[in-house]
Amino acid sequence: MTTTPAENIEIRSYLRAEEERTLADDVLDGLTRPFKELPPKHLYDARGSELFDLICEQPEYYPTRTETAILRERGDEIAATTRAAELVELGAGSVDAKTRALLGALSEAGTLARYVPVDVSESTVRASAAVVAGEHPGVAVHGLVGDIERHLDHLPDPVGPRVLAFLGGTVGNFLPGARRRFLRDLAGRLQAEDHLLIGTDLVKDPAVLEAAYNDAAGVTAAFNRNVLTVMNRELGATFDLEAFEHVAFFDRDRQWIDIRLRALVRQWVDVPALDLAIDFRAREEMRTEISTKFTRARVEGDLGAAGLEPAAWLTDPDGLYALTLARPR
Ligand code: AVJ
Repeated sequence: MTTTPAENIEIRSYLRAEEERTLADDVLDGLTRPFKELPPKHLYDARGSELFDLICEQPEYYPTRTETAILRERGDEIAATTRAAELVELGAGSVDAKTRALLGALSEAGTLARYVPVDVSESTVRASAAVVAGEHPGVAVHGLVGDIERHLDHLPDPVGPRVLAFLGGTVGNFLPGARRRFLRDLAGRLQAEDHLLIGTDLVKDPAVLEAAYNDAAGVTAAFNRNVLTVMNRELGATFDLEAFEHVAFFDRDRQWIDIRLRALVRQWVDVPALDLAIDFRAREEMRTEISTKFTRARVEGDLGAAGLEPAAWLTDPDGLYALTLARPR
């Protein structure tokens, strides 16, 4: 654990070399299964994070800009309902327009005392802390570098009513069982006066959904293939980036976008760090991410199963995306 004391910034890191093992374990576990699969978090190295930011600028990818618009429009309502002294942002990423909109509304209301960004990238948390401390001199920043599924026990003691925000639609990355488990875990961390603010992309015309994950400029394809570069670099793997194509389709039964890499030809890939040779059949696919699309009923069902009740349903005029404010029941 490392601590950086500055005026009103404190950063604590709970990630160590063990993270490298996580990739190795996930590759061994996921790529030796009959249906190959990798957890999406490995998509987000420095290059992957850059590519994700670029995805958000593509005309087809509406979720980010829609969520920001809702926060700009309804931020004061969130502030009035929650009277938040503290904003904890899970998987915060860099300080972007949505973080700014929410912080702006909460600090405008005069209740905000502390911002707690939680992210696996230490450089991102440090940068965010500096930016927020600069833009909101009255707000303390306590950054937590860690994994939202493993390190939330290290959240600082609350300073007053807290908003736990999980934005961007990232909750859609979990499979249904893991999603319910995670929401239950979050609910268990809420005091009576706290709120959860959760962003979810909504079910809509499959053509619109599929276009968002198959942008014409090929940025999503590059983002997806980048995970091969990560395995090559970190594990000495021999993936040929040209030998895989990006696949993303809406699974209508499961209501998620399924994102995969498809081997163009039969091939063997060596992973020296694991002493492993992986066999890919021609056209065999490995899943790299799912992105679940929600209905209001599904969001409320998930929250209810976690012991939460909805306090506000905030959506855009076209019903593309929703933010739900929930509290302990
Ligand atoms: C950051 C997980 C919300 O699921 O839409 C975007 C990631 N992947 N394009 C999403 C993503 C491909 C994104 N989340």
